[in-house]
Amino acid sequence: MLADASGAFPPALKVEADQRFFERGLDAADAVLHGRNSHERQMRSALRPRLVLTRRIPAISRSARNSLALFWNPSGASFEDAWDALGLGAATLAVIGGTEVFGMFLDRYDRFYLSRVPGVRLPGGRPVFPDVPRRTPEAIMAEHGLAGGDPQMLDARRGVTVTPWDRKTAPGI
Ligand SMILES: NC(=O)c1ccc[n+]([C@@H]2O[C@H](COP(=O)([O-])OP(=O)(O)OC[C@H]3O[C@@H](n4cnc5c(N)ncnc54)[C@H](OP(=O)(O)O)[C@@H]3O)[C@@H](O)[C@H]2O)c1
Repeated sequence: MLADASGAFPPALKVEADQRFFERGLDAADAVLHGRNSHERQMRSALRPRLVLTRRIPAISRSARNSLALFWNPSGASFEDAWDALGLGAATLAVIGGTEVFGMFLDRYDRFYLSRVPGVRLPGGRPVFPDVPRRTPEAIMAEHGLAGGDPQMLDARRGVTVTPWDRKTAPGI
């Protein structure tokens, strides 16, 4: 789960080392992409170009409040059109959720980082991918051509790990 049943990010999932890992990863990316209810909320967030998914607009439109943000509705424009409109050319994009957004890019990730906090149960929560918990995130990623690497311990006291999942073949078109 990446959020509880109300859609909130619960304190039980907040792990300082995981937040630092996430922030370092985003600092290495050129842009972020997320659904309208997600945001990384970091010091450098305002400097980051971003695509924000929403059905409230027909295709692609510039945010009136943030000159670096574009709203994108995938049913009205392709990802390639939205990416071109962002104007970054060949660059690194970090997809940061939530559920439906993580699911949309399963065939395209070069790498997906899966963090796990053991011992936390969030019944009815928002899953990392749409088909969880019917299937495990690992089974879903494997089916989409990703292979799990070695887990890295982020917080030994709480047993929190992050595992990179890398694409075995060329990304899907
Ligand atoms: N632990 C983690 O790694 C992690 C990651 C991400 C989020 N979260 C948490 O999860 C919660 C938010 O979850 P959420 O599922 O509501 O996420 P979300 O993806 O941020 O927001 C959902 C909204 O995004 C838009 N959207 C999503 N898919 C779309 C599509 N295919 N086409 C067009 N628009 C689309 C829709 O906006 P409109 O309503 O405007 O149409 C939808 O209501 C937050 O508490 C956040 O902190 C946790």
